[in-house]
Amino acid sequence: MAFDQRVAVVTGGGQGIGAATVLDFLEQGARVAVLDLDCAPLRRQLDALPRDAAARCLCVAGDCTDAGVVATFFDSAEAELGPVDILFNNVGQSARERGGLFTESDEAVWRFVIEVSLLTTLRASRRVAPGMKARGFGRIVNMSTDAAFAGDVGLADYAAAKMGVVGFTRSLARELAPHGVTVNAVCPGAIRTRAHDKLRPEVLEKIVADTPAGFVGAPEDVAATVRFLASDEARFITGQTLLVDGGRWML
Ligand SMILES: NC(=O)c1ccc[n+]([C@@H]2O[C@H](COP(=O)([O-])OP(=O)(O)OC[C@H]3O[C@@H](n4cnc5c(N)ncnc54)[C@H](O)[C@@H]3O)[C@@H](O)[C@H]2O)c1
Repeated sequence: MAFDQRVAVVTGGGQGIGAATVLDFLEQGARVAVLDLDCAPLRRQLDALPRDAAARCLCVAGDCTDAGVVATFFDSAEAELGPVDILFNNVGQSARERGGLFTESDEAVWRFVIEVSLLTTLRASRRVAPGMKARGFGRIVNMSTDAAFAGDVGLADYAAAKMGVVGFTRSLARELAPHGVTVNAVCPGAIRTRAHDKLRPEVLEKIVADTPAGFVGAPEDVAATVRFLASDEARFITGQTLLVDGGRWML
């Protein structure tokens, strides 16, 4: 299996796109550590896997916005599974029910969105990048969104944080490229996860109408992209921003 010598970390891998990526990495033979507020949904999915695959997954319940929790998580993940080869900085979210027009927004909400969607990415990358650099191999994949490119109304704080992820990706990619470490960003469009399930039917219809492919993607569509960027074959791809959005936004 392609990843049988690899250790991967997925932040926010308890459900949604993160969990789909965890399952994909496990299928490829990787050992996978997950930090998520809630491990229960992933544990239910692990129960359906062959025992040897489930045993290669460590899920720790904790908050990626807490630097102390993150430090302890990486220490225990590396002690149990080995040095981290692959980091998928997946955790993040918009303000969701607290979101809305920027002219009516409030700073506490921006801080929440920027913390969970941008600073978590810097924090986890800061922890693993020195080891990857020293070992001459690493793959960092950062989660952005096509909503940042499209400039969707009502998501100004989220767009700011996720464009921050793109700028961070480029700068870190250039810094780490001479050391065998690639850093790329994925930008999903509409993907069917729990936030999506709460959308009103007319909002969903508009999303589908704006998507040339004519359908909403699945978490597995993003997981397959992350798998490729994390693979040995992607060694000459770094600093890139790959949209996985059925053609809604084209670079
Ligand atoms: N679903 C989409 O359509 C879509 C589109 C573009 C980008 N994204 C991005 O993809 C990523 C994953 O989104 P999703 O739709 O799979 O979300 P989700 O809500 O389905 O899953 C997110 C997971 O992250 C965990 N989590 C949230 N905050 C956390 C924290 N502070 N610490 C630890 N764990 C935390 C949750 O418990 C959950 O398991 C996010 O960064 C999101 O912005 C999603």
